[in-house]
Parts: sequence; C-alpha cells; structure tokens
Amino acid sequence: MDNLKAELLRGLWYVACPGAEIKPGAMTGKKLMGDMVLLGRDKAGKVFALRDICPHRGIPLRHGKFDGETVQCCYHGWRFDTAGVCVDIPSTHEDQTIDFSKITCGAYPVVEQQGLIWVYFAANGESPEEGRQPQPPMLPDFSVDQGPALHIMQHFVCSVDHAALGLMDPTHAAFVHTSWWFKKNAAKLRPKRKLFEPSELGWAMVRHKLPPQNIAYKLLGDDVTTEIRYMLPGLRIEHIKGSKHSVVGLTTITPVSEDETEVRQMFWASMGWIGPFKPLIRHLMNVFLGQDRRVVIQQREGLEYNPKLMLINDADTQGRWWMQLKREWSASQAEGREFVNPVRGRELRWMS
Ligand code: FES
Ligand SMILES: [Fe+2]
Repeated sequence: MDNLKAELLRGLWYVACPGAEIKPGAMTGKKLMGDMVLLGRDKAGKVFALRDICPHRGIPLRHGKFDGETVQCCYHGWRFDTAGVCVDIPSTHEDQTIDFSKITCGAYPVVEQQGLIWVYFAANGESPEEGRQPQPPMLPDFSVDQGPALHIMQHFVCSVDHAALGLMDPTHAAFVHTSWWFKKNAAKLRPKRKLFEPSELGWAMVRHKLPPQNIAYKLLGDDVTTEIRYMLPGLRIEHIKGSKHSVVGLTTITPVSEDETEVRQMFWASMGWIGPFKPLIRHLMNVFLGQDRRVVIQQREGLEYNPKLMLINDADTQGRWWMQLKREWSASQAEGREFVNPVRGRELRWMS
C-alpha cells in the first residue's frame, strides 16, 4: 500500500454530489476519480455528466455556457448535447461536410436517486452498458425520490484508503471524538463483541439491538436494532430501525484523485419533526467529521516518509478486509472473471 496514494477502483458507481446542488439549467465542473467531470441538469430536470474537456483544444467546458439543452465551449463555440455529442461547430461554412455526430467529449453514465447524483466510472475498455455494478445501491426503507434530511461534505487530504480505514476503525473514537457530547472515556474502555458476515461488495456488522436506555434510540420506538454495511468503493450504510421509525446514515468516500477525497455524511429519517433541529445536528456532524479530518492532516506528516504500517487483529480486521476487497476487485477485473467476496464471517472483539 502506498501511504499517500490509493489505487482508484473502476467499474463502480460513486457519489458525485447531492442532486439539490445542481439546479435545472445549471452546470458545474468537478474533479472526481482523477478525471474532469462536468455535471449538469437540463431544463427538463434530467442530470448529465460529461468529460469536462473540449475535444477541440482541451479547454474545460465548464468555462462555457449552458442554455439548458446544449453546452457551448467558451473558446470556439462548439456545442455539445447532454450526451456529449457535438451538435454545432460555428466555423463550418456551407460547403463543409463535417459529421458532428462523430465528435464527442465523452459522457459518464449518471443516475439520480434518493437525492444523490451517482456517476459510473467504467473500467478501461468496458462499455458502460455491460458495467460490473449495474446500478448504484438503494438505501432501505426510503423511496427513490426521497433525499437525505441532512448532508455535509468535507475535503480530506488523504487517499481513499486512509479515509476508509478511518471510517471503519472502531477504536479511535475514544481518542479522536472527544467532544463532551460524544466523549467516550479513554481510561474506561469496554469490551465489545460484534458479529460480521459478508454482504454485497463488502461486509456487514450483523443486525443487533441497541441499548434501550439510550434516549436518542427511544425516539424510534421499541426494539431498536442496527445493521452497518461497508461496501466498495467506500460506502458505509447504517440502518437503524425501531417499531415506529427508521433512520439510514450514509457515509461516502469519493476520490477526487489518488491522494484527495470528498467525504460525505448524510442521513434519511422517517420522522417529520427533525426540521427545527437541523442546524444543531449539522453543526455536530461537522464537528465530528472535522475530528476525523484533523487526524488525517496530522497523519500525513508521518505518511510523507512512507513508513511501513500495521493492521492488527481484531481492531483493524475490517481494515484488512477493505484492502482484500480492493485487491480482489482489481484482480477479478484484470483477469476478466467474477468478483469473489474474500470476507469470511466471524466475530470480532476489541476494547473501545
Ligand atoms: S476548444 Fe472548445 S471549441 Fe475550440
Ligand atoms: Fe471517526
């Protein structure tokens, strides 16, 4: 493992941004997965994703204009439809017969569901129609049109691997998340035992009961249980369910490049009354995620020297699974065979 850079897995769907960030008739350029991506929404409300590089002379299309139907490059005015196909070259005179439809800037498959825009990054040589992961994952209990109640994003100056290892690390909380409202006492760590099993493109902490004395969980009704899934390419899905309500928390790690990531945290809730509490909840989520972000900034000082790192049992077993999953994903792709989940179910124990 290169400590500063990570291999970027292709043949998978990645969260680009919440749908609410792109209004009809608007476009925005983003670097994702080391590529320049132009995200937009046409005037009918449909999202699109193009390669943000003009095929004429390479200027990013984001500097041009979008009229709700076509994107016009700012340099010589070539226009592209939302599938990336050239529809006009203003300089062509009447005797010229250029077949515009043969010119394209390239487009990415894109899906908007549950309030998020997902972009598919195909493997080299793979046609998107026969993509390995046919659709982005749907979150349980919420409809395809229901967006998150709350969403935050922070930019992490680390590779997707270190962001992911931090995300699935059960033992840093007592040392990193030290706000009084969350604080776990680092001097009084308690034994934990959790059962894990393989699940789609990853593994799950098997559904188990949450402490009934916890007031926050009581709001969801009786018999509150949770299941936490981790899956490629860097998703954590927590599904908390009670007799009255359910909440789904989603964390996504989208690589900007090999050494930078966007980490998003959001949740969906079936209770209608959280509206007034949103500013406070958003603040707390930002403080919490900011603590993880601060650690990776500090960690980078050491990683610059590319030290040999350790993943120990059982605290870092999930980290090992992450690395194994990534390796298997790449190997199965290179060898043109089915992906075989390398995770074997077992109980993990640690102090936290
Ligand atoms: S560079 Fe885009 S039209 Fe010339
Ligand atoms: Fe954390």
